[in-house]
Amino acid sequence: MVDRNGWGRDHPVLTGSPRSPPSSFVEQANVSEPGIYEEFETEWPDCWERAAELLSWDEEYDTVLEDGNAPFYEWFAGGRLNASYNCLDRHLEAGRKNHAAIRWEGKQGERRTYTYRDLYVEVNEFATALRDLGVEEDDVVTIYLPMIPELPIAMLACARIGAPHSVVFAGLSADALVARMDAADSEYLLTCDGYYRRGDAFNQKSKVDNAQLKLEQDVRTVVVDRLGEDLPHVLGDEEYDYHDLREEFSGETVEPVSRDAEDMLFLMYTSGTTGEPKGVVHSTGGYLAHVAWTSHAVLDVKPEDTYWCAADIGWITGHSYIVYGPLALGTTTVMYEGTPDYPDRDRLWEIVDRNAVDVFYTAPTAIRAFMKWGEEYPAGHDLSSLRLLGSVGEPISPRPWNWYYEHIGKENCPVVDTWWQTETGAVTISTLPAIDDMKPGAAGPGLPGIDVRVVDGAGEPVDPGDTGYLTIARPWPGMARTLYDGDDRFRAEYWERFSDPEADEWRYFSGDAARIDEDGYVTVLGRVDDVINVSGRRLSTMEIESAITDVAGVAEAAVVGRSSETNGTDVYAYVSTEGGYDDETAVREAIVDNIEAAIGPIARPEAVVFTPELPKTRSGKIMRRLLEDVANGEELGDTSALRNPEIVGEIQAEIDDE
Ligand code: PRX
Repeated sequence: MVDRNGWGRDHPVLTGSPRSPPSSFVEQANVSEPGIYEEFETEWPDCWERAAELLSWDEEYDTVLEDGNAPFYEWFAGGRLNASYNCLDRHLEAGRKNHAAIRWEGKQGERRTYTYRDLYVEVNEFATALRDLGVEEDDVVTIYLPMIPELPIAMLACARIGAPHSVVFAGLSADALVARMDAADSEYLLTCDGYYRRGDAFNQKSKVDNAQLKLEQDVRTVVVDRLGEDLPHVLGDEEYDYHDLREEFSGETVEPVSRDAEDMLFLMYTSGTTGEPKGVVHSTGGYLAHVAWTSHAVLDVKPEDTYWCAADIGWITGHSYIVYGPLALGTTTVMYEGTPDYPDRDRLWEIVDRNAVDVFYTAPTAIRAFMKWGEEYPAGHDLSSLRLLGSVGEPISPRPWNWYYEHIGKENCPVVDTWWQTETGAVTISTLPAIDDMKPGAAGPGLPGIDVRVVDGAGEPVDPGDTGYLTIARPWPGMARTLYDGDDRFRAEYWERFSDPEADEWRYFSGDAARIDEDGYVTVLGRVDDVINVSGRRLSTMEIESAITDVAGVAEAAVVGRSSETNGTDVYAYVSTEGGYDDETAVREAIVDNIEAAIGPIARPEAVVFTPELPKTRSGKIMRRLLEDVANGEELGDTSALRNPEIVGEIQAEIDDE
C-alpha cells in the first residue's frame, strides 16, 4: 500500500520566515501558557482531562485511557454523556437560551438565525419524529443533505436518541449513497427535494429515488422541502415530509439518552486504499472532548464569538468544526450554503463583514482562488473583526499562506495550519496560536500530548529536513475507534505498517509523507497511498479506476494525481481500450459519466489520456509512479524494469499533441 505514488507533490519547497503571534492576540488567548507542552508530557495521559473538563458528564469516567486492547483504545471509560445535551441543554441551563447558535447564510441570500433555544426545540421535535418512525438506539441514520440548517439539526437529533448518524456529502452520487447505506445497514434516510446550484434548482430527490431502487433493505425516508414551488415533488410509500413531522410533534421533547463514552456518535465514510470506502467510527466522549478542546486551544473559540468554518458538513471538517466543537463551546457558528464566488467573488468577505466574524477557518484551495481573484475583493470590506485564521485539508505553501495572513488577517491574526484527518477526528498537528511562532509552509508541531514522529521505512525517525512517513506514537481521544467494516481492516489500514504488536508498541500511520525540522515543525507533503487530495477532498484512485473500467470498451485504467495551481491536485486518467473501440470521444464521455455516477462530479477527471497499453513491470504491475511523473511533466527515472518501456514515449507524445 505504501509508496505507490511516491512522495506527495503539492509540497512547499521551503518554509517562509517565521512570524510571532501578534501580542494583541496573545493577551486574550484561551491558551497562552508555554508550559502546556511539558505539562501534557509529564501528566500524560491524565493531561487529556483538560479536554474532558470542557464537557458535562452524566457520570464521571473511571479512567482516562484504557490501552489493554491496543490499537482499540478506550478513552474516559465508564463515563456517560450525551452530545446533544452538551451542545444544547447545558447552554440553556446556563441562561444562554437567546444566544445565537447557528447563523445560516443561504445560497439565494436567505438568512436564518437559530438561538440555542430554537435549536433545542427543533432538535427535540425531530428526535421525537425519528423515534416515532422506529429509530432505536444504535440504528444508523443516513443524512444526505446540502448545507441547510436541517443537517446539523438532524445530526443533533440522532445524537440525542443515541442513533449514530452517517452523513453522506450531498454532491456524491446515488451509487455512492447506496454503497454507504448498504455497508452500514442503514434503514433510515433524511434528504431533501433539491437545492440551488448557482441559482438553478437541482434535483436531489431523483438521485435518492434511483438509490432506493438499488437498495435491498426497506428504507424510511424523510424529505426536507427546500425548494417549494421551484421543484415540486411527490412523496412515495414510507416517505415523510420533514415539516409535517415537525408539526405533528410540535413542542415535544426527548430526554437525551445517556451514552457510554465509547458508544458510537457517528460514522463517516472516507476514501481508502481500496475501492471500498471506509466507515470511520467515532466515539461520543473522546471525540467530543477532543473537538471541544481543539476548538478552544487551537481555534481560540469563545462563547461570545461569531465563528465561521467555511467547510461542508458532509465531510469531517464540518462535523468537528461547524457542528460539534463550536456548539459544545456554546459559540455562534456560521453556516454557509453557497460558493465563494456567487453572486460575486467577495461573497465570503461580505459575510465576514456583516456578521463581524471573529474566527475564520477555510481550506488552501479556497485561499488559492482568493489570491487568483485579487486583493480588491477582500479590500472592499471591513475585516477588522477577525482575530484568528485557520487552514485545513491540504498543504498550504508559503505564498498563499502569506497572502491569507496579509490580505485577510491584515498581519493582526495568527494563522493556524491544522493537519488532521477523518480518522484523527480533530486537529492533531498545529501551532498553538498564542504560544508558537508560525512558519508558513509548515503546519507546526504535534499538539500537546500528540506524539508525532516522521520515520523512514523501518520506523526510525528521519533526520530533520529529510522526508519520511507521518506517524503518531501514542493514542489521542478523538481518534477513530475502528472501521465499521471490521476491526481487521482498521488494524491493517493504520497499524500494521509501523507497529510491533509482540512488543506491544503501537504506531498509527497516517498515509501521509512529511518532513520535520529541528523545532519539531511538520511540513506535510501529501499522500503516499492510493488516495489523492483534490481541492481538499479525499478520493481513492482505485475507486475512480473501477468506475472507468466498468465502461464498455475500456480494457485498463490507471488514475494518478497531477499538481494543479488551483485544486492542489487534479484527477488524471490513463486508459487503454479494447480492440474495436475507436471512437475515443464517445468512450471519454462514457468514462466521465460513469465516474460522476459512481462517485460524483468531484471526481471528474481533468484529463483522460488514451494509450494502447499501460506501462507495466515484468510481473505485470502497472507503474503508476511513472505515469504520475509523466502527468506532471517530470523527468523520468529508470524505466528498465518495464516490460514495455517504449509505451512511455508514446504516451508522452500523445500528451504533447493535446
Ligand atoms: O493528506 C492530508 C490532508 O488531508 C488528508 C485527510 O483528509 P480528510 O480525511 O478528508 O480530512 C480532511 C480535513 C481534516 C490528510 O491525510 N491534510 C489535511 N490537513 C492538512 C493536510 N495536508 C497538509 N496540511 C494540512 N493542514
